[in-house]
Amino acid sequence: MTASQTPPHAARYPAGARAFPHRDLLGIGQLERHEILFLLDEAEQWVALNRQRTKHTDTLAGLTIINAFFENSTRTLLSFEIAGKRLGADVVNMHAATSSVKKGETLIDTAITLNAMRADAIVIRHGSSGATGLIADKVDCPVLNAGDGQHEHPTQALLDALALRHSLRERGAAADDFTGLTITICGDILHSRVARSNLLCLQALGATVRLCAPPALMPAGIEAMGAEVFHDFDAALDGADVVMMLRLQTERMSGQFIPSAREYHHLYGLTAARLEKAGKDALVMHPGPMNRGVEIDSDVADMIDRSIITRQVEMGVAIRMACLEVLTRRSRGVEGWGEAA
Ligand code: NCD
Repeated sequence: MTASQTPPHAARYPAGARAFPHRDLLGIGQLERHEILFLLDEAEQWVALNRQRTKHTDTLAGLTIINAFFENSTRTLLSFEIAGKRLGADVVNMHAATSSVKKGETLIDTAITLNAMRADAIVIRHGSSGATGLIADKVDCPVLNAGDGQHEHPTQALLDALALRHSLRERGAAADDFTGLTITICGDILHSRVARSNLLCLQALGATVRLCAPPALMPAGIEAMGAEVFHDFDAALDGADVVMMLRLQTERMSGQFIPSAREYHHLYGLTAARLEKAGKDALVMHPGPMNRGVEIDSDVADMIDRSIITRQVEMGVAIRMACLEVLTRRSRGVEGWGEAA
């Protein structure tokens, strides 16, 4: 392994462990704590690059990345597209609305077609939980899950962790894991792949995670994943260091889950007054898209000293660059792939 490929925090790696022994990134659930930290550490060089005027490298020159999005997306698709382009790859976007999926093609046939085009990485967003895993079984290249149904959204959790790490360091925190932090995630937990991936990621990094939702929007048995469950938002906020708000995923709801948006805002909306119940200077996060006035008030979303929502977006590009670069190391024949530090 050359010096440039040595992970910045080599001491974290258990003796004999390989830096990132996975072909695909399907979920945080597949990752060990040191593998999460490895991806966060790798992303730092891309944060730095993205802050320069010229944001281009030829690291992935000659490779083809296909972004296959079977569900709507603004920031995730754009972020993956920018990430691939900044790494010098050829990036192609496939939108389900204009693809043969609408002509009845099965997911497996779509996967076989993408594979025949000899993509070097495929990024997939799909409405069904587990769909990305199904595609990964049928293709020869790395598959990155950009959100599958209610299951996982691993790059969102990683970018959230990176944004949090940067904000905590700015405030003088020396530790780069989240031991001792209490993080409250409030919203439509039931339908949220962001909540699931973040629960896994934040806990792996040492945080205590509180989940808060009306009973109808809380998955049964989620306590078994180690979360503290709340239905009273004020109690869930008490002393929290970070508050992560999620929107109501109405497109995944069949039937009525809440009485009205107004009542939901009254009970579960983050207002400036309610934020006072959290710890002093608590940070505010949201993966977007936001429904201002429903789960979060505009003045809270735009608080310059507390809200890190735009930083989350910034870190998204860097995390996706790191994931694409790391997962294509094997096909690029990069020395040191997967070896112990
Ligand atoms: C999330 C998603 O798609 O799961 N958004 C995102 O990726 N930024 C959350 C959401 O849609 O509410």
